[in-house]
Formats: sequence, structure tokens, C-alpha cells
Amino acid sequence: TFAAATAALAATGTGAASALAAPLDMSFPKGFRWGCATASYQIEGAANEDGRGPTNWDVFSHTPGRVANGDTGDVACDSYHRYADDTKLLTGLGVKAYRMSIAWSRIFPEGRGKPNQKGVDHYNRVIDNLLAAGIDPYVTMFHWDLPAALPGGWQSRDTAKAFADYAGYMAGKLSDRVGHFMTTNEIRCFTDIGHQEGRHAPGLKLGQADVNQVRHHGVLAHGLGVQAIRASARKGTQVGLAENTVFHVPVIETPEHIEAAKKATREANAMFLTAIMEGRYIDSYLTAQGAAAPKVEAGDMAAIGSPLDFVALNVYAPVYVRADASAPGYAVIPHLASSPRMASPWLYVGPEVAYWAVRTVSELWSPKSMYISENGCSADDPLVNGRVDDADRVMFLRNYIGQLHRAVAEGYPLHGYFLWSLMDNFEWADGYTKRFGIHYVDFQTGQRLPKLSAAWYRELVARNALV
Ligand code: NOJ
Repeated sequence: TFAAATAALAATGTGAASALAAPLDMSFPKGFRWGCATASYQIEGAANEDGRGPTNWDVFSHTPGRVANGDTGDVACDSYHRYADDTKLLTGLGVKAYRMSIAWSRIFPEGRGKPNQKGVDHYNRVIDNLLAAGIDPYVTMFHWDLPAALPGGWQSRDTAKAFADYAGYMAGKLSDRVGHFMTTNEIRCFTDIGHQEGRHAPGLKLGQADVNQVRHHGVLAHGLGVQAIRASARKGTQVGLAENTVFHVPVIETPEHIEAAKKATREANAMFLTAIMEGRYIDSYLTAQGAAAPKVEAGDMAAIGSPLDFVALNVYAPVYVRADASAPGYAVIPHLASSPRMASPWLYVGPEVAYWAVRTVSELWSPKSMYISENGCSADDPLVNGRVDDADRVMFLRNYIGQLHRAVAEGYPLHGYFLWSLMDNFEWADGYTKRFGIHYVDFQTGQRLPKLSAAWYRELVARNALV
């Protein structure tokens, strides 16, 4: 009973007191990479400078009614000009890694053909600036800003080929200084949300067969991209991708529920990470899609399944699941009005998803190395007397990172963490109405201001331990 336990504790005297006082060791392994993440269209601005070609997101954001307030990425955080300030924000945090993306249309304004040297020069400057500050760039080749000139966009198979050519070209230019490349970011978002739900560029609502084909071109772009990067990059370059796999969390951590969650994760991501890690579309997906299944050409699946050096995961909302006796063996538990969430309505809070993301991917496919390529949240972030005291974001991050500590302590090969985001930026269809940064950005002046969460993250990074 509680009373007996209390008495027993009291009886053990000083021993019990010191046992109670010993804090859990919340440190991370030596060399664990702490970083921040951003993406080109969300921060750069300079939409018409130095030969940059228009993208699907320029078209979309300039179409009335598509983005909140009619916001666009024309100026954003102006990082195209202020990248040296961004580097200073990173050194202020003490992080040694930065995940950034390259705007394809700065390099190939028409998506392919003749490269634009001014675009290459820009990223050379950005990367040299980071390296001079002791920060290791992790470069994403495609974070949704697709050159508008590519006919058919992702509906065309040729776009996957054009992507590979661009990715190979850029890896050739950068791999003397960049050691880690990610092909694509969140394939589900630039395929499904853009082509089925219509909430992202290009804003289409296609039928299922067409959507499946777009998905196929997305994973194919990744696969051909891996091959092209390997062919042109320095030996030893690490290649992976950043996926926002739908992660199922077993509400009850017993073997039957854990098994159910694992099966659910594998099946829900059949067209994305599962296809990439297994080099095939699993039967449950093909059966469910029937005549709408994607058209696959010889060699596609081998390319899609190209071996990776690491898998990186963007971790946000959980999907709760329990074992169920009826097929398919699991039941997804819907979020409720009472479920906690952050400022973005989709961002339900469930820190355990961070642990289960790492563990599930590791158990299903045993990647050699893993990263969290994004984790973070939107918050209200009121600016009061020159301060943003975002305690809610700190609590969010502390709990998610705590679950990652659990994964690392259990031995899963997680090697780094990139917080989304270094600063507030263009949050896609939400425009500037949702802030994800640990630095506040005044979008009128471009000024950056560290929030309380930046001070907290800095402390964590300095100690290499959860604080
Ligand atoms: C994932 C995307 O990669 C990123 O661009 C976006 O801003 C964050 N999630 C937050 O929604």
C-alpha cells in the first residue's frame, strides 16, 4: 500500500533521500548532432533575383484564395540576402548542423537545360559561410518548390528524371563540402496534399489513379536522385531522404498493440517509405488500389529501393492505434476535440510518436543511421515588451526530445536532430499566420529575435542533455 511504501522509505533514512535526489541521466551520446532546419521557399524571398525561375508555389501563392491573407514567399525571411545573419543565429544556439534546401529553379530556371551559375554561386556562398562558422550543412534537394516550367509537373514521369539530373548536378558542385544530402522532403505532402486534397501547389483534386501515379513519380524521383547523387558526389557522401511517415503509436505498450502499430505504420506508408525501404509496393496497397494502382516501368522499383545511408524523419502529430481482432488487425483511434494540439489545427501533441517513429522504422527496415530531420511546433508567440516567452513550445520540445532520449538509450541508431524551425517563416497555405521558429521574425523589417525556446535549446545543446 501507499502508506507501507511511505513508511519503508522513511525507515531507510538517508539512503532513500539520496536515491530520490539522483537525477536521471538525460545526456545524449557524444557527437550527437543538434541542428535546426529550414527550406528554400519558406525563407529565401528574392523570388525574381539572379535568374531564379518561377515555381509552382509562386504560381499557387499568387492565385487569390490559395494562401492565408494572400501571403507569398516573394520576400519571406529575406534569407537570400540575410543568410549570414541566419548563420549567426545558428552559432548563437551553438548548434553544429543546419538542414537547408536548394531552390531547384535557381539552378535550372526551367527545371532542366542550361544551369544558372548565379544560383550555384549563391549556394556556394551560403555553404562556405556555414562552414566558416563550424556548421555542417545537411542539404535537401527538393522541398516542394518545383520549377513551374516543367510540363505536367509531378504528373509527368519526366519530372522525376529532371529532378535526378538536377540533384546529380548539384551534388557534383557541393559534395566537396557537403557530406549529407536528402533527396526529397515529405513526398506525401507534395503529392497527396497538392494533387488530391488541393491545399498545396499545384492545388489539384485528381482521381485516385492519377494521384497514385503522381506518388509513383515522387518516389521514383527520390530513387533516381539517390543514383544520380551517388554517381556524381565525392565517395563517402551520405545520401538519404526526409519523410513525414504516418507514425502509429501503440496506446498500450504491450506486444500485441506494438505489433499492431508496426503493421499499421508499414501499410499506411506503403506508397512512400515502405516502397522505398522494401523496393516494392506491398500487396495490401496493390490490392486496395486495384485498377488504380500505379503504372510501373522496368527498373523503377530497383531505383526506388536504392540503398540509403540514412533515413531522416519529420516528426509531428501521432496517430494512436490499438490492436483489433478484425482485419487488418488494428484500429486507428481518431483525435478528439479534447486532444491537445498546438497552434496548427493538425498538430496534435503526442510526444511518444518521436520514440515510436525511430523504433518502428528501425525494427521494420534496420537503416544504418537515422536522423530527426524536423520536429517542432507552431505556437501563439505573443511579442510582449520585446520578448517572446513561448513556454508552450519549450514543453512540446522537451517532451518530444525526452522520447528521443528513450530511443537513443535503448540503442536505436539515431544520430541527430533538426529543430523546425530556426525562425518563423512562410508556412505554406497558412502563409505567415503560423509561427514555428525558435527565433521570432518581424516580417515587416526582417528582424530576428530569439524566443525563450532559443535560450532553452541553446542550454540543451551546450550540455548535450535534456534540460
Ligand atoms: C513539414 C514541412 O517539411 C515544413 O516545410 C513545414 O513548414 C513543417 N512541416 C511545419 O508544418
